[in-house]
Amino acid sequence: LATTEVDLSPISEGMGITAMWRSKPVFVRKRTQSEIDEARSVDVNALPDPQTDEARVQQPEWLIVVGICTHLGCIPLGNKQSEPRGDYGGWFCPCHGSHYDTSGRIRKGPAPENLAVPTYNFVNDSTVQLG
Ligand code: FES
Repeated sequence: LATTEVDLSPISEGMGITAMWRSKPVFVRKRTQSEIDEARSVDVNALPDPQTDEARVQQPEWLIVVGICTHLGCIPLGNKQSEPRGDYGGWFCPCHGSHYDTSGRIRKGPAPENLAVPTYNFVNDSTVQLG
């Protein structure tokens, strides 16, 4: 399928789910206000891959990223609250130790780029279409 619809209604604040889109995992996380604040308080120019949080999301509470580490392609941990989220509260790639923040941006470790943002749009308040 070229597009996939994701039901957002079961996702509570601080939680994430993994959807599959074009055979790739896509992380959909509902951020807390403190996670949003943290993502927006960073000095963007100091980041390895400088991007504002605002440029990476359409709605502040919903962060949607391709769940593939930009180093060598492992699937980072942290989408479930029970998993390690790394030093910056986002995701942690256990393969070689890359740490991503609450915007999915690379902050520490060998990954060269931020987690990619896929094409998506909100169909309504509780449904997002990937692709
Ligand atoms: Fe993720 Fe190497 S594949 S750190």
